[in-house]
Parts: sequence; structure tokens; C-alpha cells
Amino acid sequence: EHDARPYVPDTGDLGALRRAAASCRGCPLHADATRTVFGAGPRRARVVLVGEQPGDREDREGEPFVGPAGALLRRALAESGLDESSVYFTNAVKHFKFTVPEGGKRRIHKAPNLREMTACRPWLVAELASVRPRLVVALGATAGRALFGGPFRVGDHRGLLEPLPGGGAEADGRTLPEARVLVTVHPSAVLRARDREAAYRGLVSDLKAAARALA
Ligand code: URA
Ligand code: SF4
Repeated sequence: EHDARPYVPDTGDLGALRRAAASCRGCPLHADATRTVFGAGPRRARVVLVGEQPGDREDREGEPFVGPAGALLRRALAESGLDESSVYFTNAVKHFKFTVPEGGKRRIHKAPNLREMTACRPWLVAELASVRPRLVVALGATAGRALFGGPFRVGDHRGLLEPLPGGGAEADGRTLPEARVLVTVHPSAVLRARDREAAYRGLVSDLKAAARALA
């Protein structure tokens, strides 16, 4: 268990990648989670949206962004004029990481660490190389770190349209697309914000900038 590379097939076919990811054991997170939650969406989506990792609902249903954060995100996309049907949804890490507090039974989300993010990155690279979007939207710091590498602060990048690091170059034997990246907050951060309405407006305004970049 060092990273996902031994499990990632050479193919660029998304269906084949998804099937292979179902039995990934590239890091310890597969052990406690229910299933791999691979990305979902059109194979030639113009936009790839990258979250952190599946949550409780995603882990049970096997699809990304189907829980409360996903509902908020889909509402924000609709409001921004970004058509959900042209978006491929995925996560930096593809298994749910959680703790169950002593005496409790609810599974509490735990942020993935750098090793887990690094271990899972080959799946994200394979998805980006296969879908070849024009725009990648990074939701929050984990997604930002997975795409940019190194320490990453959302505030330093938020709302900018930057070239995808490594775009046009090879990674893990695949060529990353020459896409642009827009960084915004994670929808879960909006749900936790003290001023939820203001945080939501901020997310929508960033997504509107993403929609304009595609026009
Ligand atoms: N949060 C994420 O980052 N990804 C999901 O798929 C769901 C919630
Ligand atoms: Fe593989 Fe990623 Fe799951 Fe770890 S989190 S087992 S690397 S799919």
C-alpha cells in the first residue's frame, strides 16, 4: 500500500478506470470505507469539478456529491449558469475517511492527509487526462493541493484563472490537458460558515467566473 499506481490501468477509457478503481488498495482508506467513489459525468465534459473526498452519503451511494454539500453545490452551479450536465464531478481522494466517536455511531468526516492525497492522485490524473476538460474547478484546499502540489491556501488563488500545473506535460504516463484552474471554497465550508448566505454568494460568484471563462 504505497499509492494507487499499480491499480490504474493504462487505458484512457473512463469506464475501465472506474471499474479498476473499485478494487484499489493503494492506501489504507479502502479498509473502513464501503466503496470507492469514482468521478461521474460526461466523458468529454468541458468542466471537471474536484472536491476533497466522498462523505457519508457518497460512501453509501457510490456517487460523488449526492449529500448535503453536493445539493448546495448543484444549486450554486445552476444559479451560476454552469450546466450540471456538462460537468464531471470527482474528488481528490476516492474513499471516505471518518472516525466514529467513542459511544457514538455517526461517522464523522476526517480530512485526508498528504500521504493519502498523494496515494490517490494517479486516479485524478487519469481522469483529467481522459476527460480533457477546458476548465478545472478546485473546491477547497485539498483539491487545490492535489492540483498545485505543496502547501496551498485557497485565499492565495481564489477566483483566479490559472494554468493547470503540468498541463500539456506527462504525468504517470498520461498527458494532462492544457486547462485552466479556478479555485473556490468547498461547499461544506459554506454549510459551516457563520454567515452562510455570504459564503454561498461567494461560491456562486466564483462559479459565475468559471462560466464566463467557458463562454
Ligand atoms: N464533499 C466532497 O468533497 N466530495 C463529495 O463527493 C461530497 C462531499
Ligand atoms: Fe486507492 Fe484512493 Fe481509495 Fe486510497 S483512497 S485505496 S489510493 S482509491
